[in-house]
Amino acid sequence: MNYLPRNLTFNDGVAFINNHSLLEVSSEHGTPLYVYDWEHIKNNILEFTNAFGDDVLYRYAAKAFICRKLVELLNDNNWGVDVVSGGEMATVLSAVDTLENTLFNGTYKTKEEINFFMSNNGGHISVDNIDEISILQDIANKNKIKQPVILRINLDLGAETHPMVLTSGYDQQFGISIDVAEKALKEVYNSDSLLFSGIHVHIGSQIKDPERFRKAMEECSLFLEKNKASVEREIVFDAGGGFFSPYEGDEDSEDLTIYADSIRSGIEKNWSTDYKIMIEPGRAVINNAGLILYTAGAIKEDRGDKPFILVDGGMSDNPRPALYGSEHKLFNISPNKSKDEKVFAVSGRHCESGDLLVEDAQLPIDTNTGDILMSTSTGAYTFAMASNYNRVPKAKVVGISKSEVFDLVKRQSFEDTFAQDL
Ligand SMILES: Cc1ncc(COP(=O)(O)O)c(C=O)c1O
Repeated sequence: MNYLPRNLTFNDGVAFINNHSLLEVSSEHGTPLYVYDWEHIKNNILEFTNAFGDDVLYRYAAKAFICRKLVELLNDNNWGVDVVSGGEMATVLSAVDTLENTLFNGTYKTKEEINFFMSNNGGHISVDNIDEISILQDIANKNKIKQPVILRINLDLGAETHPMVLTSGYDQQFGISIDVAEKALKEVYNSDSLLFSGIHVHIGSQIKDPERFRKAMEECSLFLEKNKASVEREIVFDAGGGFFSPYEGDEDSEDLTIYADSIRSGIEKNWSTDYKIMIEPGRAVINNAGLILYTAGAIKEDRGDKPFILVDGGMSDNPRPALYGSEHKLFNISPNKSKDEKVFAVSGRHCESGDLLVEDAQLPIDTNTGDILMSTSTGAYTFAMASNYNRVPKAKVVGISKSEVFDLVKRQSFEDTFAQDL
């Protein structure tokens, strides 16, 4: 099942990743616990690289999940990172000592962040709006550099996706409208401190249909062809992220080579000189390689039309069910459980009635207090969105390779949750 970590196996109901028992991992490292199948992540990086080719600029979207060891792994594979904040860029810098292969995205970039990026020799900045241009110019001038920038345009062309993860379309706040983009392009082109380096779209997340990428790239190449006089060097076509990644069942994504071919054919429809492709995959690299382990607490039979299982985590470690109604398949990985199942509601520990991790979870009828529950397809937008709601410490993150279980992010202590209080 392709929504699960590739190296996940079961033995008498107990789950293993790369032959390490997740029951043992949970008792050694505690729960809630984020777990990544490290070999699966490596494989995903390789699959993208094989499908798109070595000369593509890979900018992994840190927003899906970032930690220093992941940045090192990406860097070892010649992948850079797409960042949207000072925190993300500082993480990259501390892991690999350079921001050269980093793309700085986002609707609001503080002057401090822009300066941090430029003064550390940052790669590309994606301009989200026309007001940003003069600020970028000022800071580039002060740093005495000519900063490569790409323009993020909004094509009013959405992906077939959940409204909350749609990032393209007339009523979406991201990017520059195509009719304003010409003016923005000229401003950048006439600037002494900015170097126009390409065009950028991100049409949304969970895009199943590669045709959408082709259409988006066709519009980008048409726009640049029309404004060719303003384009002075090899151009980057940044197709964004949003590659589909299944959450449950037998859903499958298209072969990545089909996405790659669609992107190329969209560009080449209207553009005949040299160019480079940039992509920003997040979820498709990390989501299915990740799991969250919880310990079941009380089983509450006296409320609602099905029993509640109360677990030791919830919306602070995975806000996605509360935020988007996302569904994650749950498994009880404790040994010797019944093959017969019934429906439970699995509730988080937070003081919100919306903190339901799974509304209708099919689990063994003898699921009991102390059992370990495994929530799947939880590698992306979970730890990255974690909070200290109710001053619950953020959970630990571990990776599992063939040879070892290793720490990626340590568990917060109670004291960490008030460390900034005065
Ligand atoms: C600009 C941009 N690039 C890349 C991504 C990553 O998308 P995904 O994780 O769906 O690949 C996002 C997600 O919102 C984004 O806004």
